Amino acid sequence: MTKFIVPHSPIITKKDRQRLNGHKSCILWFTGLSGSGKSTIAHRVEEILYERGIRTYVLDGDNIRLGLNKNLGFSKEDREENIRRISEVAKLFVDAGLIVLTAFISPYRKDRNLARSLVEDGEFIEIYVKCPLEVCEKRDVKGLYEKARMGIIKQFTGIDDPYEEPENPEIIIETNKNSLEECSNMVVKYLENKGYFYVD
Ligand code: ADX
Repeated sequence: MTKFIVPHSPIITKKDRQRLNGHKSCILWFTGLSGSGKSTIAHRVEEILYERGIRTYVLDGDNIRLGLNKNLGFSKEDREENIRRISEVAKLFVDAGLIVLTAFISPYRKDRNLARSLVEDGEFIEIYVKCPLEVCEKRDVKGLYEKARMGIIKQFTGIDDPYEEPENPEIIIETNKNSLEECSNMVVKYLENKGYFYVD
C-alpha cells in the first residue's frame, strides 16, 4: 500500500524548529497503572514547563480514546494499536519541536519499545509512574477498580489483565512516597540536567 508513496523533503527541519523554540524536543512517556497519577503529573509538569517558556502538549489516555482512538477497546491488539497510533502522533510532535507528554497505561513492554524505536536516541524518556496496585485501587478515582472487581469491566489492567513493568526506564517516580510537586520536579530536573532546555 505504501509502495508508491514518496515523502517530500522539507527545507525547514526539526532542528530549525527547535532553534526557533529555544529548546530540544522529546517524548515524556508516562506509563503505569490506572490511578497511579500519570495524567496528574504530566499536566503539572506541563504547567511548570509552560511557565519556563517551553512549548508542550499532553496526549492523555482518556481524551485520545474519546477521539482519534474511539474505535479501540482494551484487548491486547487494541491496546497495541492504541499505543502505535499515539507513538506516531508523538513522533510528529517531536518533529514539530515540542516536548510532548503522553499519559497511557501502555502495559506491554513491546509496545513501549516500539514507541521508543520510532524516534532518535534521547528523544524518548520513559517515566515509570510506580504505585502499588492496592494504593491505586484504594484511590479508585474513577470507580473503575470496583467495577472490575465486580466483573462489570473485563480485562482491567492489574486485575484481570497484565501490566509489564519497565525494565530500564529513564525515570521512576513513586507517587505513594513522594508528593505531586516532588514527582513533577524530578521530571523537570531530569530535562534540565540533560540539556533539553537549550539547542546548540
Ligand atoms: S492502554 O492500556 O491502551 O494504554 P489507556 O491509557 O489508553 O490504556 O486507557 C486507560 C484508561 O481507560 C484507564 O485510565 C481507565 O480510565 C479506562 N479503562 C476502561 N476500561 C479499561 C480496562 N479494561 N483496562 C484499563 N483501563 C481501562
